[in-house]
Amino acid sequence: MAVYPECRKKAQAEVDQVIGHSRLPEFGDQASAPYLAAILKETLRWFPVILLDNLLLNSTLSALPHATIADDVYEGYRIQVGSIGIPNSWKILHDSESYAHPYMFRPKRFIPEENGGVAEHDPTIGSFGYGRRICAGKNLVAASVWVSIATTFSAFDWSDPVDESGQTIDHIRAVQPSSSIGSL
Ligand code: HEM
Repeated sequence: MAVYPECRKKAQAEVDQVIGHSRLPEFGDQASAPYLAAILKETLRWFPVILLDNLLLNSTLSALPHATIADDVYEGYRIQVGSIGIPNSWKILHDSESYAHPYMFRPKRFIPEENGGVAEHDPTIGSFGYGRRICAGKNLVAASVWVSIATTFSAFDWSDPVDESGQTIDHIRAVQPSSSIGSL
C-alpha cells in the first residue's frame, strides 16, 4: 500500500463508503466491497507466499511437487506413473498472456467494469496449489486476510511514507521477492 498509493486511496474510499466510521468491517460486507476483494486476489497473485526454492534443481520460484498415480499423456508427452511434476506457479501467476503488466500490482484487473469488461484469471489456482492437493486452508485464508485488509483500512488512515524530516519518500516500485520456505 506504500508502493501503490493509488490503490490505497481507492481501498480507503471503498471502506469509508461501504462500512463508514461507526463500526468495524464484518464478513457480510464482502459482497459490497469489490475493490477489497480484488486487492486480496492481487496480493495472492503478485508475490505468492508459498513459492519454494527448488534446491535439487537449483531452479527459480516454483511450488510443491506432485506425482502422477498412473501413466498419462499430456499434449503428446508420455508421462510415466510416479513421475514428479513441479508446477511453475511464478510463471503461471505472471504470464503476460493471462495478466496485463504482470509485475505491477493492479487490483482492477479482477474488476470487469474497470478492466475493459473482462476480469483476468482468478489466481486461486496457482497461489493455493493444484487439483486434489490444493491448499486445505484457502477459504480460511481468504476470509481472514480479507477481514485484516478491511479492518486495517477501517481503523487507520494511511499516508505516504516520510523520512525523519517529514519529507515524502519516493515510492519504490521495483519490489524484489526472495524465495525459500520459512525465511520470509
Ligand atoms: C496465504 C496463505 C496460504 C497460502 C498462499 C497457501 C498455499 C498453499 C499451497 C500452494 C499449498 C500446496 C498445494 C499443492 O500441493 O498443490 C498448500 C497446501 C496446504 N495448505 Fe495452505 N496456504 C496458506 C495458508 C494455509 C492455512 C491458513 C492452512 C490451514 C488452516 C493451510 C493448510 C494447508 C494444507 C493442510 C495443505 C496440504 C494440502 C494437501 O497436501 O492435501 N494453508 N497451501
